[in-house]
Amino acid sequence: MSISIRALHPHVGGEVTGVDLRRPLTRDEVAAIEAGMDRHAVLVFPGQPLDDAQQLAFSLNFGEIEKALAGDLQKLDEKRLSTDFADVSNLDRDQEIVKRDDRHRLFALGNRLWHSDSSFRAVPAKYSLLSARIIPSRGGNTEFADMRAAWDELDDETKARIEDLICEHSLMYSRGKLGFTELTPREREMFRPVRQRLVRTHPVSGRRSIYLSSHIGGIVGWPVAEANDFIRELVEHATQRRFVYSHPWRAHDLVVWDNRQTMHRVRPFADTVEKRDVRRTTIAGDGPTVAQAA
Ligand code: OGA
Ligand code: MN
Repeated sequence: MSISIRALHPHVGGEVTGVDLRRPLTRDEVAAIEAGMDRHAVLVFPGQPLDDAQQLAFSLNFGEIEKALAGDLQKLDEKRLSTDFADVSNLDRDQEIVKRDDRHRLFALGNRLWHSDSSFRAVPAKYSLLSARIIPSRGGNTEFADMRAAWDELDDETKARIEDLICEHSLMYSRGKLGFTELTPREREMFRPVRQRLVRTHPVSGRRSIYLSSHIGGIVGWPVAEANDFIRELVEHATQRRFVYSHPWRAHDLVVWDNRQTMHRVRPFADTVEKRDVRRTTIAGDGPTVAQAA
């Protein structure tokens, strides 16, 4: 058996077959997957019925695990999964569907906005790995937008204008866009804005990309309203259908995406009626995107 990767879309996304992710991988297999990530930015591995330990072991091939951060949204003893996982399901500890007005559910609706995982952390995420255990009968696709192609197709004037801009990112900004504004003092402290470059360069391919996210709430040195309007225009450009691969989930899919080069969002589904058990491990990035002022 050897790994093969077939493109799913002209810009972003590849499908990987010929590997069993439940077993330890060889160095060549890991290298082939990394090379596939550098090229396609999103890889789909169908038919991989992983348990949590296997998902974690596979994830560790690509770097250190970024621990989940829940704030006061979920007390630790209410969590369904270990802190090595981000629980993006609609289930509680008893595997029951959470209620419509559940605070955790309302916070998680933020995943329906275009974003890059952990862009609100000083050191943002490298990869995210999402394993589908239970999938609803309809809806709930995850869409991925290629921020490299979006950069490539900007005009030269816009490229020059944004090249050195620094944005402010916070969970407060993305949740605020949904009207979710009631935060505990501890959450406010945890969600203090961080700065990120608006244009990134991939460490291997050298390709540039626009580092956008719904977590953005300002551009350093710009009036807030002008910054948010400008970012909205960039997001509209960057999420045109031709830049987007939409993933229709099947149980046992594992999808890995590079947060440095893509944005993603989950599409709506009947989340108060049908179960969707998807579990995310996240690989930490290797440094801040901007020198953080002390
Ligand atoms: C995530 C996320 C998408 C989904 O796990 O980071 O945004 O399809 N989820 O649930
Ligand atoms: Mn996400």
